[in-house]
Amino acid sequence: MVVGAVNVDHVVVTGRLPRAGETVVGPAMVRHGGGKGANAAVAAARFGAPVRLIGAVGTDDVAAGALAELAEAGVDVAFVERLPEVPTGAAVIVVDAAGENQIAVGAGANAHVDPDRVRASLRAALPSCGCVLVSTEIPEAAVAAAVEEATAAGVCCVLNPAPVVPVVADLLRHGPILTPNGGEAAELAPDLATLAARSGAPVVVTLGGDGVRYALPGRPPVEVAPHRTTVVDTTGAGDTFNGVLAARLAAGDPLDRAVRTANVAAALSVTAPGARAGGPTPAEVAAALVPARR
Ligand code: RIB
Repeated sequence: MVVGAVNVDHVVVTGRLPRAGETVVGPAMVRHGGGKGANAAVAAARFGAPVRLIGAVGTDDVAAGALAELAEAGVDVAFVERLPEVPTGAAVIVVDAAGENQIAVGAGANAHVDPDRVRASLRAALPSCGCVLVSTEIPEAAVAAAVEEATAAGVCCVLNPAPVVPVVADLLRHGPILTPNGGEAAELAPDLATLAARSGAPVVVTLGGDGVRYALPGRPPVEVAPHRTTVVDTTGAGDTFNGVLAARLAAGDPLDRAVRTANVAAALSVTAPGARAGGPTPAEVAAALVPARR
């Protein structure tokens, strides 16, 4: 199960990112499927997991297309509510020549994901669920509902605090596996050991081109080296990481193996434009690892 946002991304590729007050020009605006929840769900589905997404879209002219794209990618959208009179979530994204990005999100329907519906959907689905992945572009009460339901049922729960919202600190006591990036981790605690001690659960920090660092409570951190690829667009790399991590944990992989697989998957995801395009299959990850083993 993935609980999170569905967006339509409006992307302009330019030579460099604009400074405050500056206009930059690129060749054209391109539309891609986006939203951290939806992106992660697609990554997990591509990795072979049966995935259900809980979220919301509007009833505007992009909603049906957004849902159809998800369904075509293998994501079950039965739990994605279609809300009247609100727009589907949208993101404005600028990507520079190095593949770095700036993102602003108009939450739209994502701001109306209903915590009671989240609870009801999860209660219906948790008995056959191996992992619940939650991200924070939806209301804090909906995030809390998802983490509380999953952890109370004893189901593996991954919380991606992107962005960090106040409820995340409170939810640590439920012991979700936390997956911040470096900046988000620093917002939550002075260091990784403190963060893992507060949650009593693994914390997995994604470091972009520097790989991954993770820690279990009371244990020294483990460094996972980056997998080098040619960067085209880093948008959604974290979402691919989370989707693949959740898919592998649901399949029963131990944390270390799931983290290493997700690390390679995220590195492959940045080789194509758009938040979802480069998300690999298990065979593609296996093929990428072959030269490294020689
Ligand atoms: O993580 C990338 C995503 O963040 C984009 O797809 C955009 O929609 C925002 O949610």
